[in-house]
Parts: sequence; C-alpha cells; structure tokens
Amino acid sequence: MRIGPVPLPSPFVVSPMAGMTDTAFRRLVKRQGGCGLVVSEMVSSEGLVRGIDRTLEYAEYTEEERPVSIQIFGGDPDRMAEAARVVEDMGADIVDVNMGCPVPKIAKHHAGCSLMREPGHAATIIAAMVKAVRIPVTVKMRKGWDDSDLSAPEVARRVEDAGAAAIAIHGRTAKQSYSGQADWDFVAGVAQSVRIPVFGSGDCVEPEQVVERLRAGVSGVFVGRGVLRNPWILAQAQDLLEGRAARAVSAEARGRFLLDYMQLLLDERTGESEGFRHVAPGQAMATPAPPRGRERWVINKLRALCTWYTKGMEGGSQLRTAVNAAESVPQLRELIEASFLSGARPVRSPELVTR
Ligand SMILES: Cc1cc2nc3c(=O)[nH]c(=O)nc-3n(C[C@H](O)[C@H](O)[C@H](O)COP(=O)(O)O)c2cc1C
Repeated sequence: MRIGPVPLPSPFVVSPMAGMTDTAFRRLVKRQGGCGLVVSEMVSSEGLVRGIDRTLEYAEYTEEERPVSIQIFGGDPDRMAEAARVVEDMGADIVDVNMGCPVPKIAKHHAGCSLMREPGHAATIIAAMVKAVRIPVTVKMRKGWDDSDLSAPEVARRVEDAGAAAIAIHGRTAKQSYSGQADWDFVAGVAQSVRIPVFGSGDCVEPEQVVERLRAGVSGVFVGRGVLRNPWILAQAQDLLEGRAARAVSAEARGRFLLDYMQLLLDERTGESEGFRHVAPGQAMATPAPPRGRERWVINKLRALCTWYTKGMEGGSQLRTAVNAAESVPQLRELIEASFLSGARPVRSPELVTR
C-alpha cells in the first residue's frame, strides 16, 4: 500500500479530527500498532502562510508518527500552493486537502465541502499544489453537497487528473453532517472509477467493521470516532487481517492511555517533549502558555477525549460527569487511577466499544 512514493505499513488510518487528533494523541495511537498513516487536524492555509503560532501548533508532529499527513483547508489556489510548500518544508510526508468540512465558517470561503460544488475549482487548487511540491497531494472529501448533488465521482476524477495521489471519501453528504449511515457502496463505486487509491471513511467503531470495509473494495480505511473510543481499534483490525483474534485491552491499559495522554500534553507545553517539528526551521514554538493556562488547556483536552472515550463503558456517564467537574490535573489523575487502575470498576473489552 502506497500513496505516491510513500509506503504505508498498514491500510488503516487515523482520520483527521479537529480538536482531537493532536500530535500527542496520534503518537499514542501509533504506539499501539496497526496504524498506517496519521492525519493532522485541519490547518488553515492562511495561518500557515502567515506563520500564525496557533496554526503552527496544529501542524506539529513528531518523527515517531511517520508517515504523517498534514491536512490543510482553504479556497485560494495560490495560497493553498504556498501552504503546501510550508507543509513540505516542515518535512511532512503528505499534504491533504479538506473538501469535507461542512461548517459554514470554512465552507463559505470556497473551502471545505463547498469545493464539492465546484469541481473545476477543486481541481485548480490541486493542480496548483501538485506543481508547487514534490510530496503527494491527497484529498479528503464527502459523497457530495446533498442528495441532489452527489459530486464525489466527478471531483475524484478531476482531482486525479490534476495530480492527486489518493482520495479519502466520507460516505455522507455535507447536508447529512453525521446523520444517517455512511454509504460504503457509493465509496466503493468511486474507488472503481479512478486509478489512484481510494480510502473510505465512516462509522467503523468495531475492528471487525474496519476489516469488512477494507474487503469491500477500498484501498484503506480512515477511522475517526472509533479511534477516539478505542485507540486500539487499528491494532485490533490488523490482528484480524492477519488471522489472529483481536487483542483484548485491559482496563489498566485504558487508564494508562489517558494518563500518558495527559503527560504528553503537559510535556508539550513545557518543551520537554523530544523531536518536535515546527513550521520553519529555526522558528520557535509558540510561547508556552503560563502554568495555569496550560493546566486549563490539558483539562479541556482530557474532557474532550473522555466524551468519546467513555462511551459504552460501564459507569461511563458518571465518569464523564466527574471528569467535567475536575478542576486540576492531580484531580484528573486520581479520578483516572480510581476508575481504571484500582480494579474497582470492571471495564469490558474488547466489546467495550459499542454503537
Ligand atoms: C470531532 C471531529 C472532528 C473532525 N474534524 C475533521 C477534520 O478536521 N478534517 C476532516 O477531513 N474530517 C474531520 N472529521 C471527519 C472525520 O475525519 C471522519 O471522516 C468522520 O468522522 C467519519 O468517520 P468516523 O465515523 O470514523 O468518525 C471530524 C470528525 C469529528 C467527529
């Protein structure tokens, strides 16, 4: 499995998720195994080109995450080409274009999913980026804008002609947002109509589903919310693909994951983490937040992850309430230790993840 010249060790990918798939989370998922590629949260092309600190933080990654794809959004071909150059200069393996975000703030600037309504413009953006960089340019799209405009087959063909190296398709329209079911038959149909690899995305929350989708006619599978619930899902899918039983995950391992995530986030903001890549060589990371701001940031990150992570877990809703009430990092640690490491609360696994 390759995207352009970039080999992927597995066909399973951590799907980009704004606010969630930061470098700390991606590293921890990668360490569990089975992960062929990680994609950053979406990053503003304007912010990259202007060198805005906040944007640069979103684009940070570490060596252990490779191969790594940085996803950018924007609607201006020249600025997108310039942003792709910035991504290439950062040393990323792949630059991905967001054509799936339905949020009006993004979509109104001819960016995100509104590009599905303008296939010609989408292709112009890809052509400009392909001309500007040597790394593969990929596209993540949806089925189309709405049921009357299912443009993915046309957009796929046009971006392929413009030089895109691979495509990922979330099998819903922008109008659907996250309602209904992802249409994997549609995705497989598009996969058959182009020569470049097509990855599918949508609704894989069990490792069995990931493998089943792979076998139904795509080159690989992007897993989003399933990874937030169960960071071992890609490793478990790899187990199944190789004919083994999916590994079981103990309550302790689930607790450790949260503690490690918290620690990596804390290290990041104090500069203790090794191997950060910043946007321009020699450019310093954004000014570290003051300690109180840093603690608040870590608490908010933990709360966001726990919203997904505790779904389907016995006692999950009480734990979510407690996490949301915790006001300090030591309090959060205690809570996680009591919930996962003390042996007091049995956590079912691997059937922990349920719809
Ligand atoms: C919280 C959240 C944030 C997301 N952010 C992005 C994003 O930045 N870029 C993108 O292309 N897709 C984004 N997505 C879409 C996912 O990558 C994925 O395509 C979608 O959730 C369907 O897959 P899933 O059912 O496996 O989650 C996001 C999804 C969620 C739930």
